[in-house]
Amino acid sequence: MPTPAIGASTTGRSVGRMPIRTLLAAATLAAVLGPAGPSAAAASGTIGSINLAPAARPAGPAPADRIAAIRRRHAGEVLARVLITDPRQLDRLDAAGCDQWTHGHQAGWHEFRLDQAQLELVRRMGLRHEVVREDVAELLAAEAARLAAAGDGAAVGGADFFADYRPLDVVASFTDTLAATHPELASVVDLGQSLEGRPIRGLRITGPGDATDRPAVLINALQHAREWITVPTVLWFAQSMLEGYGQDPEITAILDAIELHVIPVTNPDGYVWSWDENRLWRKNRRDNGDGSFGVDLNRNWSFQWGGQGASENPSSAIYRGTGPFSEPESTVLSQYILDLGDVAAHLDVHSYGQLILSPFGYDFVEPEGITGRTHLVLGRTFADYIAEVSGAIYDPGPAWGLYLASGTCSDWAHGGAGAISFTFELRPANANEGGFVLPPEAIE
Ligand code: ARG
Ligand code: ZN
Repeated sequence: MPTPAIGASTTGRSVGRMPIRTLLAAATLAAVLGPAGPSAAAASGTIGSINLAPAARPAGPAPADRIAAIRRRHAGEVLARVLITDPRQLDRLDAAGCDQWTHGHQAGWHEFRLDQAQLELVRRMGLRHEVVREDVAELLAAEAARLAAAGDGAAVGGADFFADYRPLDVVASFTDTLAATHPELASVVDLGQSLEGRPIRGLRITGPGDATDRPAVLINALQHAREWITVPTVLWFAQSMLEGYGQDPEITAILDAIELHVIPVTNPDGYVWSWDENRLWRKNRRDNGDGSFGVDLNRNWSFQWGGQGASENPSSAIYRGTGPFSEPESTVLSQYILDLGDVAAHLDVHSYGQLILSPFGYDFVEPEGITGRTHLVLGRTFADYIAEVSGAIYDPGPAWGLYLASGTCSDWAHGGAGAISFTFELRPANANEGGFVLPPEAIE
């Protein structure tokens, strides 16, 4: 029997009529390469008639006080890998408030942020472990000091947007600027509002002309607040596509064939919280009514909601919420995806781990037939491209191979909306390199 071509689909969606493999490979490539550097126009401080003056930001506590508070809060904390041989050990660590940075519950090495008392508990439990970093407080204080020194919104839309991480308002102005400088290709889309009423916005990018028949490709980042690297990564991809149109034949062909949607911040409330209050916040900012805050948006999607690898405990980092789509952020994005009608491909971008995860994550199963195989082959292809271009090793494979997680965005995008879908875990590979807290050079 002949092997069906990659891109063939059993879902009835005509993935085969677009160069989806090329597109996703290009997307991967772009994401991994990072920004090529400032454009001359941006360096001048204006792009066209657009003024790139920094937006005013509300004044918080003085930087020195904030940095002292960060040092106090994280005093003595370490990053450690711990060998888990029985899931009950994880329950105990969880109950002691240990912040697990790899969310698996399967046996194996897992990474944690631990204070001294929690580290002592790991010792008392007799678990094999290795402290990989002892400078968590310093890492976070140094980052906060650097960002404070850079000043509010240095170059809102311009030259050095990619030189460091940017707060939500600067991300928003940069998004506006990208659309305004490429009006024939891009428009800003407003998907709806977060719990605290912040707009969830993105870019719709497609070549000129009637786009009604063009299948959609959607890339969203930052469901998890602390995964900062995901925001500049997808925005750099958007910028590369915009700047490449009319210059690079492949990009031009892709944008004439598809409608690209890039949503840089899916969880704006959590993102703001991670900037202003707690850099290592993960969830949204739902008041759970029991003194705890936050629902894990990537456990709140309706496909297989409530299964394994999600928690019903509101204080858990992987709390699923009170019901499928109980949260506005997941609801708004899912509605947007459904309204697009024909989403051929989807990426949900996270950090960290250097992984390319294909459906499914809720159980030890893969999509049936050619669809499952297509995912595995594409995942391998992405990893090969990345290695070729950047030398970084990304591991492809089904999400369940990492750990089970139910109610995820990517499972829904495939199982619920019929798209080819992946979850990317960007750099670094592990906590030795800082985990969520990466030097700005990692953006480029
Ligand atoms: N880090 C992501 C999360 O915890 C990845 C989930 C991927 N899915 C999975 N079943 N492992 O939400
Ligand atoms: Zn994540």
